[in-house]
Amino acid sequence: MCGIVGFVGKQEAAPILLDGLARLEYRGYDSAGIAVYSPQDGLRVVKAKGRLQNLAEKTNGGADVHGCIGIGHTRWATHGEPSDVNAHPQLSESGRFAVIHNGIIENYAEIKEFLQEQGVTFVSQTDTEVVAQLLDHYYKDDMLDAVVKVLHRIEGAYAFGIVCEDCPDRLIAARKDSPLIIGYGEDFNFLASDVTAVIKHTREVSYLDDGDIAVLTASGVAIYDSLLQRQDKARHQVDWEVSAAEKGGYEHFMAKEIMEQPEAFRKTISPRIQEGAVVLDGLCFDRETLERMDKLYIIACGSSYHVGMVAKYTLEKLLRKNVEVSLASEFRYCDPIVTERTLCIVISQSGETIDTLAALREAKRLGARVLSIVNVVGSTIARESDDVLYTWAGPEIAVATTKAYSTQLSVVYLIGLYFARILGTVNGGEYAAILTELQALPEKMEQVLAQKETIQYYASRYFNHESIFFIGRNVDYAVGMEGSLKLKEISYIHSEAYAAGELKHGTISLIEPGALVVALAGHTPLFEKLMSNVVEVKSRGADVLGVTVASRGAAMEKAVDGALIIPDTLPMLLPSLEVLPMQLFAYYVALMRGCDIDKPRNLAKSVTVE
Ligand code: M6R
Repeated sequence: MCGIVGFVGKQEAAPILLDGLARLEYRGYDSAGIAVYSPQDGLRVVKAKGRLQNLAEKTNGGADVHGCIGIGHTRWATHGEPSDVNAHPQLSESGRFAVIHNGIIENYAEIKEFLQEQGVTFVSQTDTEVVAQLLDHYYKDDMLDAVVKVLHRIEGAYAFGIVCEDCPDRLIAARKDSPLIIGYGEDFNFLASDVTAVIKHTREVSYLDDGDIAVLTASGVAIYDSLLQRQDKARHQVDWEVSAAEKGGYEHFMAKEIMEQPEAFRKTISPRIQEGAVVLDGLCFDRETLERMDKLYIIACGSSYHVGMVAKYTLEKLLRKNVEVSLASEFRYCDPIVTERTLCIVISQSGETIDTLAALREAKRLGARVLSIVNVVGSTIARESDDVLYTWAGPEIAVATTKAYSTQLSVVYLIGLYFARILGTVNGGEYAAILTELQALPEKMEQVLAQKETIQYYASRYFNHESIFFIGRNVDYAVGMEGSLKLKEISYIHSEAYAAGELKHGTISLIEPGALVVALAGHTPLFEKLMSNVVEVKSRGADVLGVTVASRGAAMEKAVDGALIIPDTLPMLLPSLEVLPMQLFAYYVALMRGCDIDKPRNLAKSVTVE
């Protein structure tokens, strides 16, 4: 939520900030602003409600705002409606400090009251303005000293970028629970929410830790811990190309990312399969350790949670161990039964989702070992886990996740096979069969994606529906949950996913003539059972769009109004194929409804506030 970027160097800052914000816009997009300092104009702030384009127009692409140091922000509103005045940067009353912020200051109301009693006038409804005003309050003649005092006084989560008119050669950055990186260049330096904002200019980055404070000038960066001790922060090289975070000829990032899935899947599994076995470098689990684990606890949010749902079926089947799946937002508050004999598997694309991070910390506090599946290298979840397995999906920009979901699934399969071999819970023949089929999946994914025109046709038939139901059993149900989320997230159609066996316990009362039911029936052991549910909803007038595998295609086609047939695979691996038509269906429906596919209303890519 919210993207922040800061630049100090020898070039004009405003166009660089706007370009950085354009690359961060997926983090929040209800308003944006920049503050740039120049000796002639002082600290100049320009803000605009709505998409970044409005700010670009207001500043003539940045050309009308001069100065070589500045900060920029693209907002996902928490405190105060989206408006020019609530957009960041927020200024202190004296105009000396400008602040950009990602996070929430939890004790802002109390501090605001305190400052108001001192005569300070507030102009916005944001929690961030409190920080700018508090900086004024503590400022004598030392910017860093004022920042440290503010950090001691506030509670909550933050990534800050701060500029002060009295110290026009430096930016200060600080973080707690919200991501922040430093990008290093020759004669310039950056702060940013993530590397996408700086990759065009530099590949050399550091990831700030909680409590870190960084002072950036054009010639260098000094990083301190919360006790103001100098830190020697490791520098990393980003190894992906700028083009990976661009649309590359597609109309939307989501379309590009859907089509990238076979390759991303391949990239994630291939290096980890050697000589007929799964090799997970860096993971040290021996048989004794795994046997001691009495439970696996999977923790995630949103689509990553849906991967967790699939993982429960997969891992229980392969490992014969009890697997629980919890929404990260519930985990902390449900007094979870987690001990040092629990292995927690945390799943997150961004590696920054605040609920998932908080759950990870709670699991560790309770003594669990944490293995995370993460896409963003160097993210907080990756760094705080005992073990991490990266998904090599590359940058995912569309708010609706697709390739991260697919690559997370691929890592789940790898973990299952890896542990099963150590524990001896699958025999050699089964192991080899699963591995062979796993390696065949990318090609089968390509075959499914090649049916995009058929899926587009079904989308054109159903895009005007106001309510769509997804039903399935076992992993089909888990895929239905994901299909339903994709659809509601980007097309704003009301949609629900049900375990098909639950229909008769209430939901079937919603089925009336014309209702659309997407029936997922790829899991062949339960095909007949699911088809009984299809008959039941059809008898009540529903239109049914059925999805199944080739070996059941003819039976499905006879029973439904429209059918999507995907290649056969092992039931365990089915979600990797079956999710693809769900993603494409949601995409085309949203396209036909004229929705803003990559930036759906009210959402942001990375949920860094609770
Ligand atoms: O970055 P994460 O995987 O932790 O994000 C979790 C969810 O916010 C995310 O999957 C969300 O549900 C997606 N927008 C769904 O497409």
